[in-house]
Amino acid sequence: MSTNAINPREVLAWYAEAGVDTALHDAPIDRFAETRELLAKSEVKREQPARNTRPQASPDKPQASAPVQPAQRTIPDEAVVGRAADLAKQATNLAELREIISSFDGCNLKFTARSTVFADGNHEAPLMLIGEAPGRDEDAQGLPFVGPSGQLLDRMLASIGLDRTSVYISNILPWRPPGNRTPTPLETEICRPFIERHIELAAPKIIVPVGGSSAKTLLKTTSGIMSLRGRWTSIEVGGRSISVLPTLHPAYLLRTPGHKKRAWQDLLSIKNKLADQTG
Ligand code: URA
Repeated sequence: MSTNAINPREVLAWYAEAGVDTALHDAPIDRFAETRELLAKSEVKREQPARNTRPQASPDKPQASAPVQPAQRTIPDEAVVGRAADLAKQATNLAELREIISSFDGCNLKFTARSTVFADGNHEAPLMLIGEAPGRDEDAQGLPFVGPSGQLLDRMLASIGLDRTSVYISNILPWRPPGNRTPTPLETEICRPFIERHIELAAPKIIVPVGGSSAKTLLKTTSGIMSLRGRWTSIEVGGRSISVLPTLHPAYLLRTPGHKKRAWQDLLSIKNKLADQTG
């Protein structure tokens, strides 16, 4: 028996370990074939005999010898951050913002995600919870915090009398990073204008960044969640000051249940603040 036989289970395990844990399409896509097709097209163009000996320059027609641009994916740069900011400003309500984000093609995360995860809950609620990014379940369902950590989040909210009709929930990133990897700083900066405009349009009284990554992004700090959680601070969004209380991520609490008492302190603090601000 050949020792080189490929064991499909081992291949799948190897993929899963590398973070490739979701099928994006029913049929496989041969990305090498895409490149071959693009190259073949550019060869055909180059081989076509020129009718005029001198190529005609045209401001809006590319030269036949111009390199063929790949379909749409490019490596994002800082200019994309500016484009995201311009587009975010154009949204005059949440429905428009959702549309703008769904059709934005400047963040590479979008191309490996199945859904654009915008928000869930009551957009008129005084409390807005903001996580880091969708995970596998959120990507599959198109809603934030619906997997195991979302279920714990629901129980945490229920413990202070809240549910998805009385809070609004979103994430810093609307697209799942492949294999739940940590988003790059550039990916986060590209998506920042969207969440900032989202906050501005929803206009909550209180924001709870859920987990360290969300807290660091919203508070523009490098401090860790253990020093940020449980302390009230505020951020300016669209000329309004909004109270902020970072708390621990439920995924962390599932791994480290001993820290639930800290989350409980945060929840009580949120409950009191809501009573002050809305009572
Ligand atoms: N973790 C997050 O930060 N957000 C989600 O939506 C799900 C898990």
